[in-house]
Amino acid sequence: MSLPKRYLITSALPYANGLKHVGHLAGAYIPADIYARYLRAQKRDVVFVCGSDEHGTAIPIQATKEGTTPRAIIDKYHEAMKQDFEDLSMSFDIYHRTSEPIHHETAQEFFTYLHERGELETKETEQYYDEEAKTFLADRYIKGTCPNCGSDRAFGDQCENCGRTLSPDELINPVSTLSGKAPIKKKTSHWYLPLGKHEEFLREWILKEHKDDWRPTVVGQCKSWIEGGLQSRAVTRDLDWGIKVPLQDAEGKVLYVWFDAPIGYVSATKQWAIDNNKEWEPYWYDQDTKLVHFIGKDNIVFHCIIFPIMLKLHGNILPTNVPANEFLNLEGDKMSTSRNWKLDMRDYINDFVEKENGGGQAVDMLRYYLTQIAPETKDSEFMWKGFQDAVNSELGNIFGNFVNRTWVLMHKLCGGKVPKLHEDVLVEDDKWIISEIENAKSKVENLLEEYKFREALFEVIDLSRKGNQYMQKKEPWIVAKQLAENPEAQKSIDNTMHLCLQLSANLAILINPFLPNTAKKMLGMMKVVEKMLDWENAGKLKLLSVGYALRAPELLFRKIEDEEIKYQVEKLKSGLVKPETTTAKVEESKSEVANLKPEIIFDDFAKIDLKVGTIVTAEKVEKADKLLKLSVDLGFETRTIVSGIALHFKPEEIVGKQVVVVANLAPRKMRGIESNGMILMAEDKEGKLHFVAPSTVINPGAGVS
Ligand code: MF3
Ligand code: ZN
Repeated sequence: MSLPKRYLITSALPYANGLKHVGHLAGAYIPADIYARYLRAQKRDVVFVCGSDEHGTAIPIQATKEGTTPRAIIDKYHEAMKQDFEDLSMSFDIYHRTSEPIHHETAQEFFTYLHERGELETKETEQYYDEEAKTFLADRYIKGTCPNCGSDRAFGDQCENCGRTLSPDELINPVSTLSGKAPIKKKTSHWYLPLGKHEEFLREWILKEHKDDWRPTVVGQCKSWIEGGLQSRAVTRDLDWGIKVPLQDAEGKVLYVWFDAPIGYVSATKQWAIDNNKEWEPYWYDQDTKLVHFIGKDNIVFHCIIFPIMLKLHGNILPTNVPANEFLNLEGDKMSTSRNWKLDMRDYINDFVEKENGGGQAVDMLRYYLTQIAPETKDSEFMWKGFQDAVNSELGNIFGNFVNRTWVLMHKLCGGKVPKLHEDVLVEDDKWIISEIENAKSKVENLLEEYKFREALFEVIDLSRKGNQYMQKKEPWIVAKQLAENPEAQKSIDNTMHLCLQLSANLAILINPFLPNTAKKMLGMMKVVEKMLDWENAGKLKLLSVGYALRAPELLFRKIEDEEIKYQVEKLKSGLVKPETTTAKVEESKSEVANLKPEIIFDDFAKIDLKVGTIVTAEKVEKADKLLKLSVDLGFETRTIVSGIALHFKPEEIVGKQVVVVANLAPRKMRGIESNGMILMAEDKEGKLHFVAPSTVINPGAGVS
């Protein structure tokens, strides 16, 4: 199979109506970035485009929410998203936006091209119209009662309460969100793309040609769309925010956001070409271009059915693959912006990235975990504990540890220089690790070519795992003890360290597409230039020259502490916005079984010494957002107790409060402060904490039983 001449990689253009979360990042951005970096390391001709999707009703709706204009909204969120991506090392060649004139022109040209060739139909339908606001109502502007769950806050496109997709006609008692009045039905005409006309093409192209090389989840979704009967799709809307329909009698009509947004990939490429003095046409017209769209599963129909039809009609190339991801859940629940159950990229940046002084360690930790759990074949789960384990056990204890040991031992046993490889004394273990190094390249490469990013990353980590095994077997630190009697032993040490160093250089190359900041740091330790990271160097054994002096090791990954994880989970839970309670929901929670621990006998209970205490002082613990340092008067003595309640109480408001203390709990150090006891707390349904205390103030030190 010959290699394509060039690649065009796209990531879904995020709506500029709010910050994006790590689910988006895992779905459409990180995998695309890995792929683009991998291709660049192979010296391929690749352009990686993205940008903000700035049209559609989502924008004016957000503007109303924030009491500002649509323009202000897109400016604000375009900048914010662009910054987030930059802070997380996304390597777009251009991050464009669909409000740019070049995009408006490009999208209008597409529409005109299709219209002039008779590829669009017009149809007259009746749509909801607000007589007071004098405007047709987009689905989102109509509210009413959900026919499914009875919530009276359902929208014309979806019920946020039960999640059902709706059309405005299904709503019971619809009202306009603009005027609060019941809308009337009014005739309007629109342009439609008749998808049905292209059914044969789609069957051939997706269900036959790509049935084996596209992901089964993607082919499956396309199949059910095709088999469900392809309806004509309106490509225009009655709205005053968007790209004007480029026709005479089309007052008040704009292109449907899903018509213009994917064309954003084309206009971004055009702008990139202008900025870099290149040609954009080959990327969209030459069959020797490999076009790959990275998206989340909710975008499949647009990228696999509608946009390809547009591209075909317009004479452009079609995507070679659309490796859509499933969804990422968070701590056991669907990520949701309206319920505030999410981790925004910005929150992670604030809590982890900004706290370290550059270097991109925290960026790579997130990139690692999100790739390791990437929802490639099914929905997956972001768990804070899982993040901690991935960073501490895999990145730290396996990869980081191997590199660190290699450097420390090389300085200790080989004078800080790359030792020689003595071919005459190679043993089985040496030969084994040599073949592992040589084989890793094609393993990782084959998986990346198939968009299997999780497995590819696993192979890289696995190579470092093998490095640890190798070192453990060769035990150069033990061999060093025999040097006095047997100077020849230095040869074995040299061989071990030589191969561990060449292995480290290989790891830098292989990890680079995934964790570019880590690769860079390793380059620094090896004192070599970026050129070494060229993919063709992977699998080679002479990357570091003999006798070359290397720098001291740097810590590649820090440990994630339990407290950080607990803090994140608490923050997530305390920010949750509960959905409105419906009868169904109440029933559900009533039937929930009480969550009891296993039975204990009285003697178990009697071991716990509970005492009433009075809080005498309270202060925040430095660099621990959720900890308060308390001194508690227990009558017979005053104790220092560190308590994880800072998110719930201000220090000044709890001084003087009575509490119940577990007085015989073994002391424990938290952030360097010894805590002597624990305060009892009750947690309510909303996750708020309340002190457990006697009903009136009594003498401190009183026993509780
Ligand atoms: N804005 C859309 C979303 O967030 C994605 C648009 S992708 C593009 O779901 F193809 F239209 F650009
Ligand atoms: Zn509902």
